[in-house]
Amino acid sequence: MVRSGIDGVFVVNTVAGPDKLAALAVLASDADVMVAVDDADNAARIAAAAREAGSIIGVLVELDTGMDRAGVDTTEEAVALAAKLVELEGVNLLGLTGYEGHCSLTPERELRHKREQKAMSFLVETAEALRSAGLPCPIVSAAGTATWEWTASFPGITESQAGSYVVMDNFHGAMVPEFEHAITVVTTVISRPPDRVIVDAGNKSMGAPALASIVGRDDLPNFRFDEEHGIFAAAREAGLRVGDVVELVPGYAPGTINPEAAVPERDHPLRETGGSRTESHRRPGHPIRAKTPTRMPDAVLDHASGLMRPGCRDVCGYRWRGRRPAVLVAVSSTG
Ligand SMILES: Cc1ncc(COP(=O)(O)O)c(C=O)c1O
Repeated sequence: MVRSGIDGVFVVNTVAGPDKLAALAVLASDADVMVAVDDADNAARIAAAAREAGSIIGVLVELDTGMDRAGVDTTEEAVALAAKLVELEGVNLLGLTGYEGHCSLTPERELRHKREQKAMSFLVETAEALRSAGLPCPIVSAAGTATWEWTASFPGITESQAGSYVVMDNFHGAMVPEFEHAITVVTTVISRPPDRVIVDAGNKSMGAPALASIVGRDDLPNFRFDEEHGIFAAAREAGLRVGDVVELVPGYAPGTINPEAAVPERDHPLRETGGSRTESHRRPGHPIRAKTPTRMPDAVLDHASGLMRPGCRDVCGYRWRGRRPAVLVAVSSTG
């Protein structure tokens, strides 16, 4: 992304290990790079890598807002870690990150909203605690596709890190139907028993295959996925013959897009629009068919449009500066 001209990248994860930290530090020489931190010793290693590379790495304290994944658990721990970070040469404390991923795992809308509000209250209160302790906290980042609208409008949240909405999938689509599906996996029927259609894309080709569906064929239930076989129930009268090409809506897009193919612009699955087939040069497998990716609804885009980098087709994250968001991460560049 940085090579393609994206000059602000938030690695929304904790990063460890000498090689990865060295790479992060070198990247930070060419772009504004931020990373999540939940461990003081590792933060010291991040700072050392940055000093070695002559760069500054932006750091956000990660708070576990209920997902039971990475992040410190309490406001007190967040303040204590932040106090250590401001003492380190090579890193720049920029605030808090607190992805409410447990809400994305809550299909029921009312309960999801309730959990999201609780998580964001915790995050914003912790941001206030940092500020009260005299620590900088200009950025408070959260949100996934399943909670994007609530979290983006939650007072005190400055940045959305929602991502899947850009291309969508059946997992997110069941909770958030307002985004258009922009990605499919192109497959071929390889066997046609009387009651089944079998395509040549299995578990290896897709995230959450049990949720995959055939485009335009909601009448064909997903039966089972094996490594190299995607199996749908289909009576003979349902049509489809060996050799027919069918497109699948993935169960889970983030587990479907090969990151190695997705990042270099040459191979980017979103590089071509209008449903044209794109092939990865890096990994054999199924081509991903991608049309112009989903955009945030107008309310958000109106703010953002004037600030999009030239050549950028869409963005998958926004950073608010006051009331105006600037592009955080672009998923595609035509430049
Ligand atoms: C830390 C973090 N932030 C943001 C997201 C984006 O969530 P979504 O893909 O639901 O938009 C994810 C997704 O896994 C994540 O792990």
